[in-house]
Amino acid sequence: MRPQQIIAKKRDGSTLTADEIGGFIDGVCDSSWADYQITALIMAMFIRGLDSGEQEAITKAMLYSGEVLDLSDIDRPVADKHSTGGVGDKTSLIIAPLAAACGLAVPMISGRGLGHTGGTLDKLESIPGFNVNLTTEEFKAVIKKCGYAMAGQTAEIAPADKKIYALRDATATVPCIPLIVASIMSKKLAEDLDALVLDVKTGAGAFMQKFEDSRALAEALVHTGKSFGVKTEAVISDMSQPLGMNVGNALEVYECLKILRGEVEPAMQATLDLSVELTARLLTMSGISENIRSASEKCAEALSSGRALEKFRQNVELQNGDPRVCDDPGQLLTNDLMRLDITADGAGFIRSFDALAVGRVVCDLGGGRVLADDGIDHAVGFECKAFIGDKVAKGQTLGTLRCRDNSRAASAGARLKQAYSINETAGEKVKLVVEVVS
Ligand code: URA
Repeated sequence: MRPQQIIAKKRDGSTLTADEIGGFIDGVCDSSWADYQITALIMAMFIRGLDSGEQEAITKAMLYSGEVLDLSDIDRPVADKHSTGGVGDKTSLIIAPLAAACGLAVPMISGRGLGHTGGTLDKLESIPGFNVNLTTEEFKAVIKKCGYAMAGQTAEIAPADKKIYALRDATATVPCIPLIVASIMSKKLAEDLDALVLDVKTGAGAFMQKFEDSRALAEALVHTGKSFGVKTEAVISDMSQPLGMNVGNALEVYECLKILRGEVEPAMQATLDLSVELTARLLTMSGISENIRSASEKCAEALSSGRALEKFRQNVELQNGDPRVCDDPGQLLTNDLMRLDITADGAGFIRSFDALAVGRVVCDLGGGRVLADDGIDHAVGFECKAFIGDKVAKGQTLGTLRCRDNSRAASAGARLKQAYSINETAGEKVKLVVEVVS
């Protein structure tokens, strides 16, 4: 079938066959479909939707548009976590070494930040020398030596997604659940996994802000993972406020190292709790632990004994980073930045703390990127000192901004102050894990 016939079929609301979808993905990869034809079909899919058969067919075609890792010579269960992205969402840096210390192999293919959400690769690059550009062979060798590796998507993994995602980004067709599922799962299924946990964020700072949309995405992701024979669960977690204490690349690695070292400050507790919840689900699905409770105990032991920190150190060494940050996480912080405290205008209880606003301010100060090839300032960020439900006094510091220049600090500070709203009456604390889909 010619591209225009397939486009017309979807435009008119019919269901595409697996062969037609396969032909489309082949056309994306060999460039026999022009960009305007690809985007016309994507827009038709966006408007008309895809049924479960089409969903499975497009995921499969995108997955097999590239290389699928062969990790069969690794003698441990293979598992990974994927997050739909958020503000201060740094759990990958804890989950990978923690899961490895508990007996899993974790082939974590990660992404860079775009817009207000951060990316694991950018965070890792705040560690001097850390190399996220590994070949498939190097990636496998690092996993064999220390139990996990963290690297960017190579050109060989799901190349159809790379091209289609860039076109979706430019044509307002990203927020479409079947296309999101195909995009995420084609990359995750290429990791040859036994188990996958998805952290689907919900709330102001999330990609899916409304709970019902987050749940629909979680259900579709879990259904697709299972239909490919991978044990899959999704945790729908809060992203109405930033996760944990720090937002900003180096600050977030600092927080993870403090947690791995057992130096957990109260504002870091949410990061630790969510990391353990997600790791425990991987351990249980993989059969290493019998249930979530024993898996959580296993995680607690791996953290308190320092075994998870040692995995992190081993991985940093293997990926050419400077392991001294494990002994002194403070080395990651740049001391000559200017600091601006954001204080409460009145006494009361924090009713909202807008994750999206915080993410945007940190991005605008250079901590994130607007275009895919923009540079990044790893040092800037925001340290959160008060959260939704906390009682605060007038003048109390709610958080501290770290930025480079005075001229931008004042407007960034004003925007951050507006990110908080304070009420006279006590409200509810935020529930970190809103729902689990399994
Ligand atoms: N993340 C992805 O990898 N793909 C999407 O389509 C959306 C978020």
